[in-house]
Formats: sequence, structure tokens, C-alpha cells
Amino acid sequence: MDKKIRRIGVLTSGGDSPGMNAAVRAVARTAMYYGIECIGIRRGWQGLINSDFVILNQDMVRHILGRGGTILYTARSDEFMTEKGREKAVATCKMLGLDGVVAIGGDGTFKGALELSRLGVPVMGIPATIDNDIGCSNYTIGFDSACNTAIDCIDKLRDTMQSHERCSVVEVMGRHAGFLALYVGIAVGATSVLVPEAELNFERDVVERIQNARLSGQTHFMVVVAEGVGSAIDIGNRIHESLGLDPRVTVLGHIQRGGAPTGRDRETATRMGYYAVKAFAEGRTGSVICTREGGIVETPIEEALAMTKHLQMDRYAILEAISASGHLAN
Ligand code: F6P
Repeated sequence: MDKKIRRIGVLTSGGDSPGMNAAVRAVARTAMYYGIECIGIRRGWQGLINSDFVILNQDMVRHILGRGGTILYTARSDEFMTEKGREKAVATCKMLGLDGVVAIGGDGTFKGALELSRLGVPVMGIPATIDNDIGCSNYTIGFDSACNTAIDCIDKLRDTMQSHERCSVVEVMGRHAGFLALYVGIAVGATSVLVPEAELNFERDVVERIQNARLSGQTHFMVVVAEGVGSAIDIGNRIHESLGLDPRVTVLGHIQRGGAPTGRDRETATRMGYYAVKAFAEGRTGSVICTREGGIVETPIEEALAMTKHLQMDRYAILEAISASGHLAN
């Protein structure tokens, strides 16, 4: 790409995550720094189809660094999945004179980015999802905030579970991945953590762990279930049938997607936004900005989509050793 970049668009797409606003701000401010105009495309890819935009000047991105949600709104667009929809999106890019688009979101967003780049629109991607399930990047914007929100909720649950000497079953988000459940489970010292990456053996993974915890003197039990495993209500029922306990089930749900981004998410989002625009300004395009081994790397979108990331099973082993060995360790 040897043409001077004059104007870019930025959009947020898919499920929102805390820190998306920080990324939008960084994209807009870095663009200003390079003398590039920045247009905010509202409601993700659908906004590109509908020519739904707002000019991002200094005022628009002031005071949004620490705000949850996304000022650009977000959506999952079925129309963009069609050839006709994408043609309309390309027409909007031409009409607005966009020399590039920064797309902030998860896998679905990057699939859209790939399609658009194949139609000649330069695109850069920024990974943002509370699921942390983007193969090309060690970290995705929003994961830390969602972990902290879930930890805060579970700490509160623990107070009442302790008072009543109960068993609590908590379902956390993560779609098909167990990153959120595992990190949260370790941080709250859960009795058991169920993730979709490990085949469930109910007797070993739940019953024996609760029994061990009881034998070690524990009178309340915390079971964290990733939504990808299935319903926490079913797990609660099975605990009742197997152990005679009367568990309380809490589905944390969308609360995990809200709230102010943590320092880690603000900092990562700001770095990613900066590098996405810097790449455009230096003539590079067609990549996802990723964190790897502490640094930032650009991974071509197609390659990024083909990459997978595995749950760190060593962390699962740590959890087993520390939280699940109960009286055996004493
Ligand atoms: O991808 C983020 C996420 O919050 C997942 O953890 C969850 O499965 C999904 O989005 C929920 O999507 P929606 O907001 O459409 O209900």
C-alpha cells in the first residue's frame, strides 16, 4: 500500500468488552497524531452497510478511556455475511473516502475483516472479547476486566455461602472456551472448575473434590462452571442427587461484559489501537494486532483466523493440587 492514508474508519463488532472504548480512543488519537482523519462506524459491520457513522474528533473520544461498553455501539450483522451486504459496505467505504478500517472485536469480526480486505478495503484487526479465545493473540481486550468482575461477584457469593455453609455453583461466560472459568476459579480458590477443554468426569471432578474439601474441614463449596460445559443448573441438580447438598446456582451472565476496564485492559487497548494506526501510516495492512511474549506482533488476518489457542492445562493442574487435594495434602 503506497498511497498516503488520509482517512480511516473504526468500528466495534460482536460482543462488547471493557476496553473497547480505550481502543477506539487510541485509534482516533493516533490517527490525529499522524494527520489522518478518523470516522467512527456505528453498530459494527452493519454500520458500514447503512452508512451509519460519526466523525471522531477530540471531543468525541474525551473521557472514554475508563468507560465500559462501546460509544460506537456494536452488533452482529447477518447482512454483512451476504455478498450484497458486503458490496454495500464497500460502496460506503468509497463514498466516505476511507483508506482503511480498524475492526475491533473477536473471531466473527475478523472473518468480516478478511472478506472486506478481499474486496480491496485495507483492514486492521484488534482482538477484543472477554472470552480470550482468539488464537493469534495471547491476550484479548476485556478479559482481565471480566475476570475481575466475576471474582468480585463470587467473593460476595462466598460471604453468604460461608454463613449458610452451602454449596454454590457459578456459571461464567466464555462461549466455547474455559479461559475465564479457569482464571476466575484459581483466583477464588474454587473447589472445582469445569471447563469445556477437559472431559467431565462428574464423580472425580465434582463429587470427590467436594468430599475432599469437606474432609479437610471446609463447610462451603464453590463450583465454577464455564458456559461451554453446559448448564450450571444441571450441575447443581447432579450435586444434589450425588451428595444430598442443596446447592444455590448463580449464572453471572452479561454482568461480566460491563463495568470500567481494568488498568491492564486500558493499557493493552491503548497499545493495540496505537499499533493498528501506526501500521496503516507506515503502509502495512491486512493484519490483526496481537500480543505475543509480551510484545506486539502483526499477524495476517487469514493466518490469524487459522490459529488456535489451547487452555493452559498446567494451570488446571495447579488448581487441582491447591484447591482440590483437600485433606490428602494435610
Ligand atoms: O463472546 C462474548 C460472549 O459474552 C460469550 O462469552 C457469550 O457466550 C456470548 O458473548 C453471549 O452473546 P450475546 O451477548 O449475544 O448473548
